[in-house]
Amino acid sequence: MDARGLRAPATASVGFVTGGQLANFTCLAAARHSVLAGAGWDIAEQGFHGSPPLRFVVGSHRHGSIDRAARFLGIGRAGLTIVPTDSQGRMSPEALDQALVGAEGPLIVCLQAGEVHTGAFDDFAALIPLARRHGAWIHVDGAFGLWAAASPGLSHLTAGMADADSWATDAHKTLNVPYDCGMAIVRDPADSIAAFRTGGDYLIYSGLDPWDVTPELSRRARGVPAWAALRSLGRSGIADLIDRLHANAVAMAAGLRTVESVEVINDVDYTQVMFRLGSDEATRALGAAILVDGTAAMTGAEWEGRAALRCSMSSWATTPEDIVRTVEAIRGLVAAGSPAG
Ligand SMILES: Cc1ncc(COP(=O)(O)O)c(C=O)c1O
Repeated sequence: MDARGLRAPATASVGFVTGGQLANFTCLAAARHSVLAGAGWDIAEQGFHGSPPLRFVVGSHRHGSIDRAARFLGIGRAGLTIVPTDSQGRMSPEALDQALVGAEGPLIVCLQAGEVHTGAFDDFAALIPLARRHGAWIHVDGAFGLWAAASPGLSHLTAGMADADSWATDAHKTLNVPYDCGMAIVRDPADSIAAFRTGGDYLIYSGLDPWDVTPELSRRARGVPAWAALRSLGRSGIADLIDRLHANAVAMAAGLRTVESVEVINDVDYTQVMFRLGSDEATRALGAAILVDGTAAMTGAEWEGRAALRCSMSSWATTPEDIVRTVEAIRGLVAAGSPAG
């Protein structure tokens, strides 16, 4: 499989790992190696002791797996520069520009395709050239959002994203294969190899092997379900799947706006819908009631210090009728429970 469908270069390496967490880690390990090598430091040989400082620039609404990956990679919190984001969780180009003033030396900038609550995409076309000017490695966390690139109707969200250096995504989210199928895509396989290549005299080699581009050695053949889904759906089937998830989100938001006391919080550009009632107490009570009711499952969230409920459209099996049933169930629960306030 190659990465072209996601608008990454055909020559990129694709390492299959457990999920988005490990995909971010894997890409960032390649990034760490590359930016330190650019400063004349071989992290594989010399370790971190005495290395040039590495700056890791992230948005304030990055996913928690980014911090965890940084922690695994020895980039402590002190190495993080946190750039403010807008009301949807997007990094602002002005803020990135500001954060990069005087930045030189090893630098990684982490952008996002699909904020976990709002589904918002960073403005890659504006941000990537800014980061490039400072010689940064640019990583995109696109656990579920990278797939927007495969839909002609939604690919505008990912405009400019192909100019990054690495991309993390999950086949077990938008592509709907079973759990345990993340994908770490790195523009130049030499960077993955430098970070990960290993071997053993008992192994059979094919030139570029999974252990060359991921932290694992023995593991299951995750590429098989991903390949099967891609092969059976084809380019148009994947676009159709993504468009249906998006249409469900738009319909859900429209339905929720007709329910008294409900406020839809986010711009529904992709597959996420976040909403709340008038008070945190009412929002949390509704969340608990929805899970008991069982018509739909959604999780609670915190957005800008307030409680919210979060729907993530990710199942191929969800129909427009399911959305109507869910909205009506919520309408009934709000009316019946009404600590709605
Ligand atoms: C933006 C983003 N990045 C990373 C992850 C982590 O993915 P996983 O749970 O597959 O490790 C998620 C999970 O929802 C996510 O939404």
